[in-house]
Amino acid sequence: MTIPTKPIFFVLLISFSVIKNYAQTISLKDAYKNSFMIGTALNASQIEERDSNAAKIITHEFNAITPENSMKCEVIHPSWNTYHFEQADKLIAYGNKNKIPIMGHTLVWHSQLSGFVKNIQSADSLSLFLDQHISTIAARYDGKIFSWDVVNEALNEDGSMRNSIFLQKLGPNYVVDAFRIAQKAAPKTELYYNDYNIEQPQKRAGAINLIKKIQAAGVRIDGVGIQGHWQLGHVPFKDIEESIEAFSKLGIKVMFTELDLTVLPNPWDVTTADVNMKAENNAYFNPYPTGLPDSVEQMFTKDYVQLFALFQKHKKDVFRVTFWGVHDKQSWLNNWPIFGRTNYPLLFDRNYQPKEAYYKLISITK
Ligand code: XIL
Repeated sequence: MTIPTKPIFFVLLISFSVIKNYAQTISLKDAYKNSFMIGTALNASQIEERDSNAAKIITHEFNAITPENSMKCEVIHPSWNTYHFEQADKLIAYGNKNKIPIMGHTLVWHSQLSGFVKNIQSADSLSLFLDQHISTIAARYDGKIFSWDVVNEALNEDGSMRNSIFLQKLGPNYVVDAFRIAQKAAPKTELYYNDYNIEQPQKRAGAINLIKKIQAAGVRIDGVGIQGHWQLGHVPFKDIEESIEAFSKLGIKVMFTELDLTVLPNPWDVTTADVNMKAENNAYFNPYPTGLPDSVEQMFTKDYVQLFALFQKHKKDVFRVTFWGVHDKQSWLNNWPIFGRTNYPLLFDRNYQPKEAYYKLISITK
């Protein structure tokens, strides 16, 4: 057979081999199986398997799943004596069916709280809520899920305790109390502290103090989750490496629990993942409504590769890396901190196709 030398032939050959590879063999979870778990966050439509394109990616690529919203207070516990377990129960069924461990998110958080909790006036009532909320939910899913983010985002950027309703009414020991209640209700479930920016030195020091305080009280904490909502071109590699080292010295698992890389301009000078911060949309802040320029895509690939090379270097201490979503179209970063933008933070694009970064992350494991 004579091989045609026309360029189009080679283009077809390359595209065919890429597609063939994706469909047939490789997956992130297999490529990293000797290093760490690779997770994703699922929204309600994915848990209910209404997103059929995403469904194929989820079971092929990931060996850990986190509910993006289904276990948050406002969804699961809307009023004092009402629990809506439907979505969370569906997640358990989905995890069982597909044999994927579930990472619970989250028991105690100041955001996405139900209205009745925000209106609680007395310390006694809030303490009762904390006890009932954690005990009921953690006991129901003990032995059915792998872990809980027991407390999410209890710290300020300077490492001090965030002035949440919990701190105001219960004082700084509420975090230890939350872990104590969870430990009793869920002896078979791993218990984690989760926060954003805790790779940064000051906030990291606050997280280390908090974890040591839980340990000193004789209460179980099994791991720490660094959320990992970072910005393209500004990934804090050095801080991340120092954090893996510092947190693992505490004898707990280190995880990256909500990874995504925004490619869009930040409306503020600070890096944050505070879900309550909002800004106005305009063309400047939404520069790529129809597609990502090649130059930005290349930076995106480079940052992800450098990040995973770092995770690989520390695979002994990194237990899991979870992406905050399956594909770009569903990402919360299309609507936060500015509503209605077009962002490109994940490894699968709007058409559910794997990006260049996806293949590179697999190839660096070989
Ligand atoms: C986000 C979800 O992705 C959105 O769908 C929701 O509207 C707001 O919360 N830190 C966390 C996550 O711990 O729970 C947040 O998830 C993103 C920031």
